[in-house]
Amino acid sequence: MSAYNFNIAKLGNIVQGTIVSLAKEVVQSYDNNLDILAIVGACYTVRKGLHLLSGCCSLIKHQVFPLLFSNTNTILKYGEWAVVTGGSDGIGKAYAEELARLGVNIILLGRSIQKLQNVSEAIAATYGVKTRIIVADFNKGPEVFPSIKEALVDVDVGILVNNAGMFFDYPACLTEVPEEKSLEIINVNIAAAVMMVYVVLPGMLQRKRGAIINVSSITSWKPVPLMTVYAASKVNLMLHLKQKLIFSSNVSPRLLCCL
Ligand SMILES: NC(=O)c1ccc[n+]([C@@H]2O[C@H](COP(=O)([O-])OP(=O)(O)OC[C@H]3O[C@@H](n4cnc5c(N)ncnc54)[C@H](OP(=O)(O)O)[C@@H]3O)[C@@H](O)[C@H]2O)c1
Repeated sequence: MSAYNFNIAKLGNIVQGTIVSLAKEVVQSYDNNLDILAIVGACYTVRKGLHLLSGCCSLIKHQVFPLLFSNTNTILKYGEWAVVTGGSDGIGKAYAEELARLGVNIILLGRSIQKLQNVSEAIAATYGVKTRIIVADFNKGPEVFPSIKEALVDVDVGILVNNAGMFFDYPACLTEVPEEKSLEIINVNIAAAVMMVYVVLPGMLQRKRGAIINVSSITSWKPVPLMTVYAASKVNLMLHLKQKLIFSSNVSPRLLCCL
């Protein structure tokens, strides 16, 4: 064997040994990584499982139990009256009708006196509960709330449905939405909902009972293109307001998301 051949063979052995030891290290570190990934995966699965379980419990508590054991006392435990903002139309009107069906007296709030009167009379005639109306335009800002407070003095408001809400004429980029429209959305969807909490919460705290339902939107879940201020109004107000209510009072806040 020549010296040249010997060196080649020796070099080959060294390279082979290096590759084998490298491969061993890679396999070992792959095993370690697999362990780490398995732990991360297990934690994620447990977290998702707990989240799902708590969702199921909440679903059963809030949707199934009331269906099985619903009676007027369950809802009347909050108080005799419910205030439904934007109760003259759409989802608010449906809320008012359902609460009236359960025996709760209804105060409807909206802009159009004619619509409010029509719905109010229909609810009183159909469900035999007392009804009142409050005419107020939330877009007018702070000036409307003293008279709303005045109208609710000495009223046992057990439930507030913060439902009145504005949307764009159509989804668009922020700069394509007129400034007044964005301001109106902020006034009605955020400012008014917060101010209505100021109006009813002191009484609820005094009586140690009450429920506040904030009607949100699926646009508050994840960023949605072209929803800009509307989506922000729903996520900021509803989630933050909900947390504030949980931590600052014994009133049960609920967040309702419409699709
Ligand atoms: N409909 C949907 O598909 C959908 C989806 C997601 C979330 N939502 C949310 O659900 C809620 C109700 O929606 P909706 O579709 O049922 O609404 P809607 O049918 O348009 O009814 C709106 C109600 O709010 C009142 N309102 C509007 N502007 C007001 C203001 N400036 N001051 C006082 N009251 C005012 C209206 O009263 P007047 O008629 O007297 O003005 C009416 O009673 C809103 O918060 C909305 O963001 C709805």
